[in-house]
Amino acid sequence: MTGITIDGHSIEILFSETEIAARVAEIAHAVADRDPERLLVVPVLKGSFIFAADLLRAMHGAGLSPEVDFMMLASYRAQTSSSGQVEVLRDIQTDVTERDVLLIDDILESGRTLAFAKDLLAARGASQVLTAVLLDKPGHRAAELDADFTGFECPDKFVVGYGMDMAHAFRELPFVGYVTNPK
Ligand code: IMP
Ligand code: MG
Repeated sequence: MTGITIDGHSIEILFSETEIAARVAEIAHAVADRDPERLLVVPVLKGSFIFAADLLRAMHGAGLSPEVDFMMLASYRAQTSSSGQVEVLRDIQTDVTERDVLLIDDILESGRTLAFAKDLLAARGASQVLTAVLLDKPGHRAAELDADFTGFECPDKFVVGYGMDMAHAFRELPFVGYVTNPK
């Protein structure tokens, strides 16, 4: 395993910049294979912003011409697994009626965030709501949801980098890793 130290935190690299780039290109082609119509890409902020930016550019390479709008959601973890709440902090401003939508998130864990967003856009009349996540942590699912496109299965560790943070830090890292000495 390779690692680096930032501000006293040791970070082990789980998925390198090169591995991520290759997987992102594969996902873009897999999306193109579904032949989406009037595609609207909706990154769920904040954690997905780097994955979304790379995936969008790879989608151009795969022959797609999507539009993009952003949604920011906050999820509040409840003690019991069935009662987590999701709140819309910033909504899209695009009408999704009869459009294919691709929701993008960083991590699928309980599934509540994406299930909420998917139901919301489906209720507004989207023809189809597809989901792409960089990482899947399968052990903690509370909502019935599997992503249509998944980058990597993620070990049960708190990961950072490539847009994802720990207490607002580490989003800038070009790879995905985990902190081995959290303070
Ligand atoms: P869920 O699927 O509704 O449980 O939400 C997953 C969300 O929790 C992700 O979009 C992340 O914002 C956050 N999250 C879960 N695990 C991690 C992690 O290991 N690092 C950083 N954020 C995480
Ligand atoms: Mg998130």
